[in-house]
Amino acid sequence: MSQLSTRHLLGIKDISTEDIQLIFETADNFKEVLNRPIKKVPSLRDITIANIFFENSTRTRLSFELAEKRLSADVINFSSSNSSVKKGETLIDTVNNILSMKVDMVVMRHSSVGAPHFLSKHIKANIVNAGDGTHEHPTQALLDAFSIREKLGDVAGKKVAIIGDILHSRVALSNIFCLQKLGAEVMVCGPITLLPKHIGSLGVKIEHDVEKALQWCDVANVLRIQLERQQIKYFPSLREYSLYFGINRKMLDRLDKEIVVMHPGPINRGVELNSDVADSEHSIILQQVENGVAIRMAVLYLLAGAK
Ligand code: CP
Repeated sequence: MSQLSTRHLLGIKDISTEDIQLIFETADNFKEVLNRPIKKVPSLRDITIANIFFENSTRTRLSFELAEKRLSADVINFSSSNSSVKKGETLIDTVNNILSMKVDMVVMRHSSVGAPHFLSKHIKANIVNAGDGTHEHPTQALLDAFSIREKLGDVAGKKVAIIGDILHSRVALSNIFCLQKLGAEVMVCGPITLLPKHIGSLGVKIEHDVEKALQWCDVANVLRIQLERQQIKYFPSLREYSLYFGINRKMLDRLDKEIVVMHPGPINRGVELNSDVADSEHSIILQQVENGVAIRMAVLYLLAGAK
């Protein structure tokens, strides 16, 4: 198989294990390209891609833009904060105006769950979900699993603990789908108020003691407290959260094994993760960012072929 089973990447839930393996194999090739002196290939020459971001982003937006440029695509960038959305334009009108400039693919981040799914029913271009509200962030999960595969040789059979604000996290849901499809065991760990009520129905283990989660896992994927999505108080204070759920070097030193520490970024240093862990030999946080470009090149290249 050399084609994806889908023409959009809306979520990990919708794609097959074979799709994920194909993306990884393609990303392996692009990672090799990215380590050459000339890092550009002509694969998407004549393809125009619009990056449409209705929510803040550093890593994802830059990573997609770099991936597109490395593939020789023509790129336009749209950010809602300085656009006519502020004058009341609808999502469909905004996107149709962009598409009338002959755009082939749309990479979209939006604060509303399902926004890219809605768009995929109304436009012809391929759509890549770059994060929709608290729902999915598929390319983040792909780059996370790809980084585990690179570090540990395989994802199958590995124990991954996702620790932190699971309730508001699109990274958590996409990671659960992706890791399970690849044969990993998944645990979620956090205060009871930050775990969705029915999370157990996804077949994950549940833990509220972070030291027990660290003892159990091979990989700890630590998530940010998403204060911007919290309208009520889910815990008394950041200081208290850090005391009970923050990960520091002493906790890793107490383990009788080495574990890998990941974080999708942006990190709240001193809250969910201390610098003595984030910057340590346990951390693969910057490798995740590096792998993001190869993964996004693979996704865009394969979707362009699925036209
Ligand atoms: N990991 C991630 O999605 O980061 P940004 O919000 O900076 O894109």
